[in-house]
Amino acid sequence: MIVESNVPLQHHNTFGIVAKARTLVRVRSQEDVHAMLAHPEVAAEPKFVLGGGSNIVLTGDVKPVVLKVEVAGKRIVEDGAKAVVVEFGAGENWHEAVTWTIEQGLGGLENLALIPGTVGASPVQNIGAYGVELQDRFESLDAIDLQTGREFTLDAAQCAFGYRDSVFKHSPARDSDFGLAGRALILRVRMRLPKPWKPVLGYIDLQRKMTESGVKTPDARQIYDWVCAVRGAKLPDPRVIGNAGSFFKNPTVTPEQCQDIIAREPNIVHYPMPDGTMKLAAGWLIDACGWKGKSVGQAGVYEKQALVLVNRGGATGGEVVTLARAIQTSVYERFGIRLEPEPVVV
Ligand code: EPU
Repeated sequence: MIVESNVPLQHHNTFGIVAKARTLVRVRSQEDVHAMLAHPEVAAEPKFVLGGGSNIVLTGDVKPVVLKVEVAGKRIVEDGAKAVVVEFGAGENWHEAVTWTIEQGLGGLENLALIPGTVGASPVQNIGAYGVELQDRFESLDAIDLQTGREFTLDAAQCAFGYRDSVFKHSPARDSDFGLAGRALILRVRMRLPKPWKPVLGYIDLQRKMTESGVKTPDARQIYDWVCAVRGAKLPDPRVIGNAGSFFKNPTVTPEQCQDIIAREPNIVHYPMPDGTMKLAAGWLIDACGWKGKSVGQAGVYEKQALVLVNRGGATGGEVVTLARAIQTSVYERFGIRLEPEPVVV
């Protein structure tokens, strides 16, 4: 186990915010967690689990011990008649894991290409894009309890997936004993890729790609390429412009609330959900309030997608939070809707 002090985190958060970890432990296996729990200074300290840092806003140096998850590994664990099950170490880069499945000739994760972050963070957020959510392909995961060192495996039901939500985002203290936030460190994640492979092409941007290219029966690699192209065209590459993807969740409202808003705002982008509620495009709401291209200090609203906040160079976490609050206020004042942030403010 390696324990480091005063470690710069600028390259460990996709916003590229300058901050330090007072103490950082690299976790490459469960043995590292056991060693950490036996460590005289580190064991009793509060902990903060860091994956690819694609879903956090750092507002200062991180005081809890940062556990940087670097568990590696990519393998096929089962090749059955109905599905292939693949397993990845939690520290693997998500996009590289998706690319690996495509190179193995395995379809199923192509709609989730180019999402920043690590495999271990993917179930926390229940990442989703272009009509597929992680929960649609999830098989199980192995995790370790940071208080007891006990290892355990969870299936999809136990992960309690919701829209950009899971058991890992809820704290037992706050949410009536439900939740593993701050308690579990994810070691490995398994995904079930069903056979035969079926493309998911309902999303408008993919429909457009089919029309433009004339390709009517794309394979998984073709969809992977399209998803990379679509994302590249409207989402900033965090290696070039710091960001954490969508900053807010798309809010849901009742059909009555939606009708009321449509009466005032006929162009509002909305989608009916299977449970009867209506989902509104948060990017549209923010755009309609005139935020595209605006800034607070060096934190800004991306010019091509108002749902994405960016670091224009040297932004502080405080600037990002101030900008986010100003956006929430103006969307609430105009539409009566409270936007909920996706990233965790640390
Ligand atoms: N829109 C605007 N102005 C904007 C941005 C969007 O009018 O500035 C409109 C678009 O024209 C479109 C609608 O809003 O009609 C939805 O926009 P988009 O298709 O870009 O998708 P989104 O709802 O903004 C969601 C996910 C993304 C995911 C895409 C594709 C959330 C919070 N975001 O974005 O996920 O990639 O759909 O499936 O659910 C992420 O979570 O970090 C993320 C990038």
